[in-house]
Amino acid sequence: MASLTGMDIVSVEQFDEGMLRLVFDTASEMKRMVRTRKKSDLLRGHILANVFFEPSTRTMCSFDAAMKRLGGEVISVFESSSSSKKGESIEDTIRCLECYCDVLVLRHPEKGTAAKAAAASKKPLINAGDGVGEHPTQALLDLFTLFSNHPSTTDDLVLDGLNLLLLGDLKHGRTVHSLSLLTSKLSRPPRLTLVSPEVLRMPASVTDVLRSRGLKLEETAKLEEALPGADVLYVTRVQRERFASADEYDAVKGAYTIDAAIMRTAKSDMIVMHPLPRVDEISTDFDADPRAQYFDQMENGMYVRMALLALVLGADLSKL
Ligand code: CP
Repeated sequence: MASLTGMDIVSVEQFDEGMLRLVFDTASEMKRMVRTRKKSDLLRGHILANVFFEPSTRTMCSFDAAMKRLGGEVISVFESSSSSKKGESIEDTIRCLECYCDVLVLRHPEKGTAAKAAAASKKPLINAGDGVGEHPTQALLDLFTLFSNHPSTTDDLVLDGLNLLLLGDLKHGRTVHSLSLLTSKLSRPPRLTLVSPEVLRMPASVTDVLRSRGLKLEETAKLEEALPGADVLYVTRVQRERFASADEYDAVKGAYTIDAAIMRTAKSDMIVMHPLPRVDEISTDFDADPRAQYFDQMENGMYVRMALLALVLGADLSKL
């Protein structure tokens, strides 16, 4: 029987199919509850510490809303106004906050910090993005969205007929690192097509794992050749904040733009996803196309995070 009670969520590598089913079934229940305006006190008496050392709109606010929709409360901590500015270590910050809360969510610019913080914490800690490392809750909401919205995914966790095209900054994009690794944990994973400028290719540390698990993988820089075969297009932003210089960023920014014109070459029953925020890699002229699923994807983040908080805190789901 799958369980997430008391678990730190640091990497998608911790998840198996049983756990994914549990998260997605619970998220569906949360979605039904919110959409029917049902109230819940499932997490009343619990406090979440939302600790953000990097900017965020969706992840921070959806965790905040998730906790409040389940009757819990939230402490928000931002790097700019925390004692880290006086030189306090992340471990000591976590040791402090865990005295005040029941679960912690941490975003940090350095890869590996979530694991370090989880090791220091006696309370469950959820990685909300660690630099260019991972963003496991984003991958969970991405997969939930894919299963909910792709017309051919009628079978739970079966993706082996699909070609998932990951586009953009695959080097720095923690969302695509986590999503590709998570799909490789499925017994029937999709085929992956990785499209990026040469300098923004997916790191070998990720592709080596994908290949070792037998995933079918293609890498190219030519979007126009790859797009017509895609069943899911997952677009990412070129991450200006990860480049050493403005010149290096300028050389690759705007490498690809998804707009209504290029999307005429794509399948009519495919879907387009994006973790957001976007800059200019998806033109707003495509937003009204029924294949554009990125705003639904964003909304699903709250339902998946409601599920994760309830499961990690061992809530009695029969009370929903
Ligand atoms: N997708 C995502 O992580 O968005 P935020 O940076 O706004 O949290």
